[in-house]
Amino acid sequence: MSDARLELDAPAKINLVLEVLGRRPDGFHELATVFQTVDLCDRVELRVRDRDTSGDADAPDLTLIVDGPESPHVPATSDNLVVRAAAGVLREAGALGDVAVDIHLTKHIPAGGGLGGGSSDAATTARGVNRLLGDPLDADALHELCAGLGSDVPFFLLGGTALGRGRGERLRPVEPPLPFDVTLLLPGFAVPTPAVFAALDAQPIDGPRSLPAHWDALLHDLAGADAARLDALFRNDLSDAARHVEPRLHALLRHDGVHLSGSGSTAFTYAPAHTDEIATWGMRSMRVLHTRSRNR
Ligand code: C5P
Repeated sequence: MSDARLELDAPAKINLVLEVLGRRPDGFHELATVFQTVDLCDRVELRVRDRDTSGDADAPDLTLIVDGPESPHVPATSDNLVVRAAAGVLREAGALGDVAVDIHLTKHIPAGGGLGGGSSDAATTARGVNRLLGDPLDADALHELCAGLGSDVPFFLLGGTALGRGRGERLRPVEPPLPFDVTLLLPGFAVPTPAVFAALDAQPIDGPRSLPAHWDALLHDLAGADAARLDALFRNDLSDAARHVEPRLHALLRHDGVHLSGSGSTAFTYAPAHTDEIATWGMRSMRVLHTRSRNR
């Protein structure tokens, strides 16, 4: 008889740098990005128990409750990535039909904002369910399962600071910058990632497939950089495309030191001096959240 529980944080991320290196034959884009987890977290509570076969034979193997301040836009249905993550681990472990998994997700990370909340929840669920089952999947199997769920899901198995290549799933930990504050600017609307990449494709993308030479210097500078230096290193090749898809982003991104995370809609700044100024920008639906970089 097994009945085991685990509670884990699922942190949000920002992209410190995001460069598009080209379009791939599979329709995805070759990226070089530096992911960074921050202290804004969802909470994932997991319970793995023997499946009760005495009652309703059709009782679900997987249950999901979603609550918390950011729950309204998150489906508590079987297409939620956490359910797919848990089911994937059970399937790979040969445990489908034997055990049930109950998931309680407390959402603090806004959805649809380029902060990777859904991806982080999925990776954290996969890692947690695997651990509760006694780690039947090795690191490679867990990574492969997560890569099948979404391009930036595998990063959240690692956390901290990491270079992401390929679709974002080929990862290498990099030396973290000095701990720094991040102010997140949430404009109150979502920007769909596929639309941003499609807008990027409207212009010809010719880029090298391999990591450009300037990345050596960039990764070197990143290590030990403070917030002021990070600003100078920043670049996000999706910014113009995101602005094209959602022109309201311009009101945020036209300010110095304000950057887009992933494909948006969240923007962020490292500079605490901006905080007073933000109140004067007049975006009524915008929320401001203060967080901090988070290491592994
Ligand atoms: O992998 P994920 O489901 O997060 O990707 C969502 C969409 O973003 C993809 O369907 C694709 O249009 C785009 N994408 C891309 N290149 C990447 C990652 C995402 O074109 N490296």
